[in-house]
Amino acid sequence: MIKKRVCILGSNGMLGQRLVFYYLANPRVELMCSSFEEESFIKNVGYLQADISSKKDVHKLIHDFYPDYIINTAAYTNVDGCETEKELSWKINVTGVENIAKSASAIDAHLIHISTDYVFDGLNGPYDENAMPNPISSYGRSKLASENVINSTSLKASIIRTNVLYGPAKYGRPDFVKWVVSSLKSKKRINIVTDQINNPTFIDDLVQAINKLMEFNKVGLYNIGGEEFLSRFEFTLRIADYFSLDKSLINIIVTSELKQPAPRPLKSGLITLKAQTELGYKAQRVDDTFEIMKKELNL
Ligand SMILES: NC(=O)c1ccc[n+]([C@@H]2O[C@H](COP(=O)([O-])OP(=O)(O)OC[C@H]3O[C@@H](n4cnc5c(N)ncnc54)[C@H](OP(=O)(O)O)[C@@H]3O)[C@@H](O)[C@H]2O)c1
Repeated sequence: MIKKRVCILGSNGMLGQRLVFYYLANPRVELMCSSFEEESFIKNVGYLQADISSKKDVHKLIHDFYPDYIINTAAYTNVDGCETEKELSWKINVTGVENIAKSASAIDAHLIHISTDYVFDGLNGPYDENAMPNPISSYGRSKLASENVINSTSLKASIIRTNVLYGPAKYGRPDFVKWVVSSLKSKKRINIVTDQINNPTFIDDLVQAINKLMEFNKVGLYNIGGEEFLSRFEFTLRIADYFSLDKSLINIIVTSELKQPAPRPLKSGLITLKAQTELGYKAQRVDDTFEIMKKELNL
């Protein structure tokens, strides 16, 4: 059996670790993982520590393993941090992707790169793949630049834009769903905005989409998002309903009250018709995704 060689960058991150679990269970895949930390959070996997902003690290990782596919989930993902640490975040999100693209190109690997709806201004979403980007934050500008880096090469590459990831990742910082559940369970009041609209994406759906891209050898830009477009408040109510939590602890506010350093695209979300048609993508029902999280994480 000829195995596909798959290299996951950012393998300790929220999406990265779910990809690792998925491919670990696939006997047709030979896996190499890499992230910023000294060790892999998931044990018994091939792992090499690499900083994607280091040309040397990326060259060594990719030229030693010689993957057929490189999945890049590594990024500086703290949206407000990108405003204060502009240089560092650009170095990771843009120079890092330049390094990856260069090495991928040299060995003719297929690069799958993850981007975001933050490339849009959020004035008139939801957006399809033909919509004009207009980022309003440093994070959004760096992610759009990362896409442009890839688009300016002749690399075999797919770019996935996604939004508001959540799911049963065990390690690292909690996502929105876990935060809402743990706050309301411990009777903490939470402030939730009514004016940010997205279609939150279950990470395991995104993992499936990535796998389909590889299986069908698809290149180009694809949106991946959840089944329903919801304001953050509506999403929170769905979480509270499913997990039988006290809704009176939810304070309704608007985004401007948060006084966050980075502006957020408000009316956003990603139309997934292209992925549905070309990849057979189908997002799971929101309540079904909560059920999986409940079982896997004991929420
Ligand atoms: N989370 C969302 O809601 C969301 C929405 C849209 C798009 N995305 C995109 O989806 C992708 C995955 O997101 P995620 O939520 O899984 O992010 P994440 O949990 O923050 O994972 C990113 C991983 O990359 C690592 N990393 C950071 N700098 C690095 C460097 N210089 N070299 C190597 N690794 C580095 C991080 O390590 P440290 O933890 O040590 O920094 C972390 O393990 C990202 O490209 C993100 O922009 C995410």
